Amino acid sequence: MPRPKSLFQCQSCGYSSLKWLGKCPDCNAWNSFTEEQHVSKLKGQKTARPVALSEISASTGGRHSTGIGELDRTLGGGVVKGSVVLIGGDPGIGKSTIILQSVRGLAKLGKVLYVSGEESPEQVKMRAERLQITSGEIILLPETSLEGIISVAREINPQVIVIDSIQTIFSLEISSAPGSVGQIRECATKLMFLAKKRGIPLFIIGHVTKEGAIAGPKVLEHVVDTVLYFEGDKGNPFRILRAVKNRFGPTNEIGVFEMMESGLKEVDNPSQLFLSERPTNVPGSVVTVSLEGTRPLLVEIQALVSPSSLGVPRRTALGVDYNRVNLLVAVLDKRIGMRLSGMDIYVNVVGGLSIGEPAIDMGIAGAIASSFKNQAIDTGIFTFGEVGLSGELRAVGQAGTRIGEAVKLGFKKGIVPANNLNKFEEKDIEITGVKNVEEAVEMLLF
Ligand code: TYD
Ligand code: MG
Repeated sequence: MPRPKSLFQCQSCGYSSLKWLGKCPDCNAWNSFTEEQHVSKLKGQKTARPVALSEISASTGGRHSTGIGELDRTLGGGVVKGSVVLIGGDPGIGKSTIILQSVRGLAKLGKVLYVSGEESPEQVKMRAERLQITSGEIILLPETSLEGIISVAREINPQVIVIDSIQTIFSLEISSAPGSVGQIRECATKLMFLAKKRGIPLFIIGHVTKEGAIAGPKVLEHVVDTVLYFEGDKGNPFRILRAVKNRFGPTNEIGVFEMMESGLKEVDNPSQLFLSERPTNVPGSVVTVSLEGTRPLLVEIQALVSPSSLGVPRRTALGVDYNRVNLLVAVLDKRIGMRLSGMDIYVNVVGGLSIGEPAIDMGIAGAIASSFKNQAIDTGIFTFGEVGLSGELRAVGQAGTRIGEAVKLGFKKGIVPANNLNKFEEKDIEITGVKNVEEAVEMLLF
């Protein structure tokens, strides 16, 4: 009889080794290896038959609304049957709340099996009452063993399954603790097979680590079809749901919510919201347009530049890339001659949003220039464009969509890259195309 094989696996990245190791050679984590039973994946598996692509009929009507418009758009227009959606986010951000609210729409498909490994049925009931959800189609299952969940699912034949959360579920076939890499991978994979076989949507809630990644393995993100992250900070009622992976739709699509007494409320016009508390005639504030998925979003970028009392001046970037800010500071210094080297510089995106798009470069540069010169930018002006190292302003994608959103919110003037001008027509607004940062700053601070 062969010896049962055991493997040592890194709990932070999933690297496996036959011996115990003190330091993971892959992710360099210390003391992260634990012993796990190796299960052969090939036991009793049937091989698939090859099929010609032309013989496959893809049904397009497979999407179903969750009843929450913002969640539907983040998913790419509703949830696809047979797909697995992972929702990650900090504790208390609202993962359980959004799932429970979407159950109202999903219950139209049939029975919803809500597996709650974290909260008792009474706790879920209390939350459901608060959210005014009374559907009889929701079946609560306070179970944490994978085998138990699968047998209940076979018995009651649900049309939607929700797992809250994957870190609490464990398989009896594996000896390691719930939440370990082996357990999470095994449970997620088995649940995925169940969902695919039955053609029903499966929602998995996952915790995130201190670093902000979904706890446990990256492998979990590979197993599922769609990964949504819930962002936002505790002091702020706004929550952003962002699709970081989507096999059935565009990524980077976002949904914006506000956490209220009675649950999450959709925000229909986020641009208006992000600009609602904008001060007038204050230096260091610029409005720029970022594109999140297919949606243009007007955001205010603030900068504060002040002489530093430190040997190495302080640079802080909230919501934008730190290295990008340093790059823009260097460009302003070298190309326009702004003496920023001895200055503390703080940059912030208002509303707790984080933006990774280079199209907001000109917004950051404009805010820094405005604060440095202590000169306010007119509130009716917006700007966007990617800044190159030689100070040139580069064209960005979908300029028309961005300008359209600014027009909708009543902006009167836009400073945009010159190369974006030819592709766009819009009335009611004065658009100026500029070639470099110097011209743009001059136009902003005329
Ligand atoms: P929850 O969905 O439990 O978070 P997660 O599952 O991501 O850990 O959300 C809990 C927080 O949301 C909690 O701090 C209370 C708040 N909340 C409201 O403000 N209004 C509500 O209607 C609900 C249900 C929760
Ligand atoms: Mg929860």
